[in-house]
Amino acid sequence: MKKSASCFLAALVAVGMMSTSASADIKKGQKAYLKTCKNCHGNGTKGAAMHTQDEWDELFANNGELIIKKHAGDKSAAYFNGDMFKAQSQDLRDFLFEYGSDSGNVPSCG
Ligand code: HEC
Repeated sequence: MKKSASCFLAALVAVGMMSTSASADIKKGQKAYLKTCKNCHGNGTKGAAMHTQDEWDELFANNGELIIKKHAGDKSAAYFNGDMFKAQSQDLRDFLFEYGSDSGNVPSCG
């Protein structure tokens, strides 16, 4: 109870900051992450911290060639090879890059 209340407050503060500093793409990317990747990779903090900003750049280079390859043998392969990933990859990259392990930024509550 206590934890979720402070989480809610943190989210409010973050939304307030986002409206001035972060681009809409990062928010969109976070939403896409929570919807698509969270089940397998945990919340956004954990997911983005899987890699440094340079590594995220590499993973999403050439229309996400490397990250698609990483999932080739997984049940998420259909998503990564489909139009959905094409449509979301830029936003996802923006979100994950923004909160990469060496970024010093932490997203609010996953
Ligand atoms: C159905 C489960 C599933 C979904 C959904 C999924 N992944 Fe993965 N992901 C895996 C598996 C399995 C691997 C390969 C094993 C590993 O390296 O952890 C992997 C690997 C990765 C890697 C490479 C890890 C490394 O260090 O080489 C990244 C980055 C990654 N996923 C990001 C994402 C992102 C971003 C999304 C959402 C767009 C996503 N995944 C969606 C299961 C999933």
